[in-house]
Amino acid sequence: MRIAVAGLGNVGAAVVRLLQMNKNLLIARGADLTVCAVSARDKAIARSCDLSSVEWVDDPHALAARADIEVVVEVIGGAEGVALELVTAALNNGKHVVTANKAMIATHGIALALLAETSRLQLSFEAAVCGGVPTLKILREGLAANRISSVRGILNGTCNYVLTRMATEGLAFNAALAEAQRLGYAEADPAADIDGHDTANKLAILAALAFGVAPNVASIPTKGIRSVTQADIREAASRGGTIRLLGIGKRDQLGITQKVEPVFIPNGDPLFGINGVTNAIQISGDFAGDILVQGPGAGGDVTASAIVADLVDIARGHRGFAFGVLGANLQKSSN
Ligand code: HSE
Repeated sequence: MRIAVAGLGNVGAAVVRLLQMNKNLLIARGADLTVCAVSARDKAIARSCDLSSVEWVDDPHALAARADIEVVVEVIGGAEGVALELVTAALNNGKHVVTANKAMIATHGIALALLAETSRLQLSFEAAVCGGVPTLKILREGLAANRISSVRGILNGTCNYVLTRMATEGLAFNAALAEAQRLGYAEADPAADIDGHDTANKLAILAALAFGVAPNVASIPTKGIRSVTQADIREAASRGGTIRLLGIGKRDQLGITQKVEPVFIPNGDPLFGINGVTNAIQISGDFAGDILVQGPGAGGDVTASAIVADLVDIARGHRGFAFGVLGANLQKSSN
């Protein structure tokens, strides 16, 4: 399967490197994947992958028009602009799309899913939620038989890293955030992380898969971690707990509610002790009961792992609705 990768930051470079390093293993697993073309802003930057046998294309839009490409991997980022133009054009031109772009999927996911469904193409975005943890696959496939009553989780690696470092090392907020940025966890604009918008995007996508509601980020009450102080963290510790930024989606008799906020997590809660860049999600299904998934939520390699898993699915011919149900059947969400 011939692939183009648009965007060669931490994630894009890791995708190319993974496909090169694990080529034979992937072939043995039914996925012969070749990166034919790449596009990024700056060709001169040193990267963690070998681009010597890959064609460099200056304009990412051109990738969507190429007859030799079957799948476009979009890791440019941003809800609008080049990423959305590229993905829309790729689907219009008969190419499957794999993306890690939670802002774009949370905002335009329904329109893109409808476009993919109309053209019988795959739109996949496992990497958009919880980095390397295959959370969407669990909801879409493993828990497909369940009515889900709640999804509750630590969905942003940067915030969790910052809160952990503030608690364990007594670091100031800005110093901890600078570390997270240096480690490649944060968004290009880290305000998206610390103000909770990244968590809200991920929650909106999770809620779509869990509850069958269209993502509606604007309707999610969202509070980030800017206001969390050392004093708050010490006070939480004195009560035997900790503070974590959670995305919470629930279905009850009154309907579906979603919110993002910093929450006191007592010792004994399944989300207690989830430290550093780790993400964790508790999912409650009516037959499966409570499921807890956790793992690294941000970083180039872990995100590449999820992207390539989506590519493997496409190569194997495993297809499915992007949000688990036909895009047209997603209900309107008003929260
Ligand atoms: N900035 C995001 C995070 C990256 O910290 O979780 C992964 O989505």
